[in-house]
Amino acid sequence: KRVAILISGGGSNMVRLVEDMAGDHPCQPVLVASNDPDAGGLAKAAAMGLPTAAVDHRAYRGDRAGFEAALLEPILAVRPDIICLAGFMRILTPDFVERFQGRMLNIHPSLLPKYTGLHTHARAIEAGDAEAGATVHLVIPDLDAGPILGQARVPIMPGDTADRLAARVLIREHQLYPAVLRRFASGDQTPLYL
Ligand code: GRF
Repeated sequence: KRVAILISGGGSNMVRLVEDMAGDHPCQPVLVASNDPDAGGLAKAAAMGLPTAAVDHRAYRGDRAGFEAALLEPILAVRPDIICLAGFMRILTPDFVERFQGRMLNIHPSLLPKYTGLHTHARAIEAGDAEAGATVHLVIPDLDAGPILGQARVPIMPGDTADRLAARVLIREHQLYPAVLRRFASGDQTPLYL
């Protein structure tokens, strides 16, 4: 299966996905694309020998459809079977989502359905939750809301800051996403709980 990965920043989840696909795996990475030409993950992807693309969303201020049309071009050119959003920080329109619905995955740093949107770790700490974590789900037009394909949990420790909790969750994201992609690519949508 041909996998395109969309990032916005450092791309640590993308790196783990690509590393996992290097082994005996039903998938191969065919593109890493970003909405930010300066995304650190683009340099990492290029260093791993992957094709990359960047479409600066700031060049399409207010024209979300125009941005997505530009982003679609390099994506469609590599004929992906699966799209993985990995630290991708732009909201996609229903038109874009519907093109790939059922084969576009996202990782979100909370135990969905709790804490959709941003600042998930601060909100969990503020709420006095005992646990936090990450969720991999199929993308539907509603933000952070599609069928859950996997979750990983971590304890929230006394005195945790959002940054310390984020670092603890990120380690689990790096375990969860590759495991879920393997399972999904082999046709199994049974949720995986790590
Ligand atoms: C991670 O916290 C991930 O949960 C969120 O984006 C953050 C950075 O991810 N989606 P990455 O290092 O760019 O993969």
